[in-house]
Amino acid sequence: MAFDLVLFGGTGDLTWRKLMPALFQAWRHGKLPAGGRIVAVSRQDLSDDAYRAWVKERFHEVEDAKRPSDDEFGRFAALLHHLSLDLSQPADYARLKAWLASDVGRAGPADVVVMYLATSPSLFPVICEQLGVAGLNGANVRVVLEKPLGHDLESAREINRVVRSVFREEQAFRIDHYLGKPAVQNLMALRFGNVLFEPLWRRECIANIQITLAEAIGVGTRGDFYSRTGALRDMVQNHALQLLTMVAMEPPSRMVADAIRDEKLKVLRSLKPFDGDSVGRDVVRGQYRAGNVDGKGAAAFADEDKVPPGSPTETFVALRTEVQNWRWAGVPFYLRTGKRLAERDAQIVVNFRRTPHTLFPGRNLPNKLVIKLQPEDGLELHLLAAKGAGQGEALTPVSLDLDFDKAFAENRVGAYERLLLDVIAGRLNLFVRSDEQEEAWAWVEPILDAWRNDDAAPRPYAAGTWGPAAASALVARDGYAWAEED
Ligand code: BG6
Repeated sequence: MAFDLVLFGGTGDLTWRKLMPALFQAWRHGKLPAGGRIVAVSRQDLSDDAYRAWVKERFHEVEDAKRPSDDEFGRFAALLHHLSLDLSQPADYARLKAWLASDVGRAGPADVVVMYLATSPSLFPVICEQLGVAGLNGANVRVVLEKPLGHDLESAREINRVVRSVFREEQAFRIDHYLGKPAVQNLMALRFGNVLFEPLWRRECIANIQITLAEAIGVGTRGDFYSRTGALRDMVQNHALQLLTMVAMEPPSRMVADAIRDEKLKVLRSLKPFDGDSVGRDVVRGQYRAGNVDGKGAAAFADEDKVPPGSPTETFVALRTEVQNWRWAGVPFYLRTGKRLAERDAQIVVNFRRTPHTLFPGRNLPNKLVIKLQPEDGLELHLLAAKGAGQGEALTPVSLDLDFDKAFAENRVGAYERLLLDVIAGRLNLFVRSDEQEEAWAWVEPILDAWRNDDAAPRPYAAGTWGPAAASALVARDGYAWAEED
């Protein structure tokens, strides 16, 4: 299938950190359809060769195993082109259209044209409008929108309004790269491809569910972006809520995009809404102070590059919510994310209830299923077993461990690689529909409002810890504990 991939923001951070490495991997794995062209668009005046040299230089920063040899890069680079464009100039979109119709790098028209908006979201409306004016919104065009998709409900709606005025919903691919992670796809397989868990996947058997997206890194060079954004917008509104929907959704009628997205939307609509009181009670925000991560000193958020003095931005959020429906009524869902935490660790912990009656001496420990997203991708099922020491023996905690990175090493595909290939192939299953995205914004908005009207600063926590003590208290109040405290 002949495709054209237009990368708006072609010299930007996202392009070289994520997209180019992913495209190269897809090419190396032989998965990128033949007859493709990748055209990077930026304001810079670069020839194709100068752009290729720039990309090659950037690849030095990619880990060894994912870096091309000179020969490989030479062949991959033949796909790369550069077009200098001023995004506000209609005439420049006409040039883009002419380029796409030209036979540079390939004779014949593209079957699919992907417009990847790897730019600041403030440019999404102008790019979409101009693509529409230039007639670059035909049925074979797909537009990929990167987060952050808006800053709040209103701005998200405005972006969606403009996108919808130019493209049909099926042409819009809103990326949440967490949905491309193999562990997340596996969650669907675990739940809906096996009979074992689904009968237990409900309030009668599950005591609580914990979703942790912990990072050891700080805000790095993104101090200005991050201080305007904060952990709630950066991680909770999108990644954490998307994971929650995947855990809590009903089985879709079919494995097709809208059937899946309808079920996810129902979960978002069932989330217990926040108000001023419940934000105070059920949401903890924190900000890191100086500390130690991996044995090295780490600066406070306030001292990071480009963070304005006295910034009240949260770098940590923990919250308690409920999914108010028949399956989940009364089951707490705890979400937690933060920068400069003790380790990089993303996981979903499903804590089952205790057995209703105890027959064995010792502690009646409940079963626990740990879905590990990163750094390892796997499953741990915690059970109780008898060692066989004889009558009256207390049971011993054991776990069944599955390491998917090992088991499926040959077939593993990174999140961006997977999602880029899905866009080219037109598979929408792992992309977020506009109504889901708006519903997620509507749910976090009372938290943003409450914080705006609250003079209290985020709670401090030392870099390299698991966040403010109040996050532990939030869970302890219900008689539970976070996985690492259990
Ligand atoms: C991005 C956030 O969406 O996700 C970053 O903007 C965060 O702040 C990143 O570091 C985490 O992604 P991953 O795949 O490294 O867990």
